[in-house]
Amino acid sequence: MRALQDSLRDSYNRQFKYLRLSLTEVCNFRCSYCLPDGYKSSCSEMPLNENEVINLVHAFSELGINKIRLTGGEPTVRQDIVSIVQKIAKIDGIKKIALTTNGFRLEQLAAPLFEAGLTNLNVSVDSLQEENFLKITGKSYLKKVLVGLEKAVLVGIPTIKINTVLLKDLNDTELSNYINLVRKAPISVRFIELMQTGSNGDYFKKHHLSTKVIDSYLRDCGWYEASKQITDGPAVEFTHKDYLGRIGIISPYEKDFCKLCNRLRISSFGKLQLCLFGQGQLSLRNLLQDADQKEELQQTILKSLLLKPVEHDLKSGFTGLTKNLSMIGG
Ligand code: 5AD
Ligand code: SF4
Repeated sequence: MRALQDSLRDSYNRQFKYLRLSLTEVCNFRCSYCLPDGYKSSCSEMPLNENEVINLVHAFSELGINKIRLTGGEPTVRQDIVSIVQKIAKIDGIKKIALTTNGFRLEQLAAPLFEAGLTNLNVSVDSLQEENFLKITGKSYLKKVLVGLEKAVLVGIPTIKINTVLLKDLNDTELSNYINLVRKAPISVRFIELMQTGSNGDYFKKHHLSTKVIDSYLRDCGWYEASKQITDGPAVEFTHKDYLGRIGIISPYEKDFCKLCNRLRISSFGKLQLCLFGQGQLSLRNLLQDADQKEELQQTILKSLLLKPVEHDLKSGFTGLTKNLSMIGG
């Protein structure tokens, strides 16, 4: 097994230790950039069950993956979410278990998820004003989400981040409210530049705003770029001596963004997707049925990794297979 560790490398010598696993395409929000008309099922296939998820994580952990992020859709619509976290936490080699959520069940789930072994939590909060929140997400759940966040801090989930997609004319005047939020709270707020997907072309034209505006604002106000480790991925984080928390920026359109790509993605139906905006998908589901299939599964993963593209081609508007991010998680 030792020989397998660290073997997840692509043809450009990027090494992968981080796997993002979608647990469902279903989402109960209607974020205007993702699912403006709400989730509609496009097939009758069921998402991976607990057993398939565990077989998958086992195989990947032996190949050197040490961090798993559970995403969706909205992963907490699954009733077995706590049990999945608990089982993954017991797998040798998995040091971090992360969850990306819209936060609507966080108040009830924060404590059980922490006890199950959750180490990292990302909560999407696209506005701190009820009216804008409703406009962007289609739901009046801002208070509920913030109560859940507070609970997560209180029960002691070690690393907590807020994700905010930066949107021209929808939330771009709220920067100072977000900065206030991290004055006393040990959390990071990360502004994500809106990405064009197969289904949001017009919306993108209207609301896309470069995160450069935040970058210059922060530098002008005494924030410093935090030094980063090679394993940190593509976010740039800023710190300030008067603030406990951090502000981060994720700019997928920046040159070299993909050089720091440290992640692999699996869809909720067990397809390996090599790049968020790529064409290639390979179903692993038939190799997840029995723990005995592990070696064949690992060989298949290693072989297909060599096909990972060097970078995305979003600048030319090429969005690949991804119609919207509920299909595969952000
Ligand atoms: N561009 C940028 N971020 C997106 N997300 C979903 N769709 C997009 C998009 N088109 C974000 C969600 C969430 C994370 C999972 O990905 O808002 O914060
Ligand atoms: Fe990685 Fe593809 Fe995203 Fe670039 S676009 S960071 S290669 S997943």
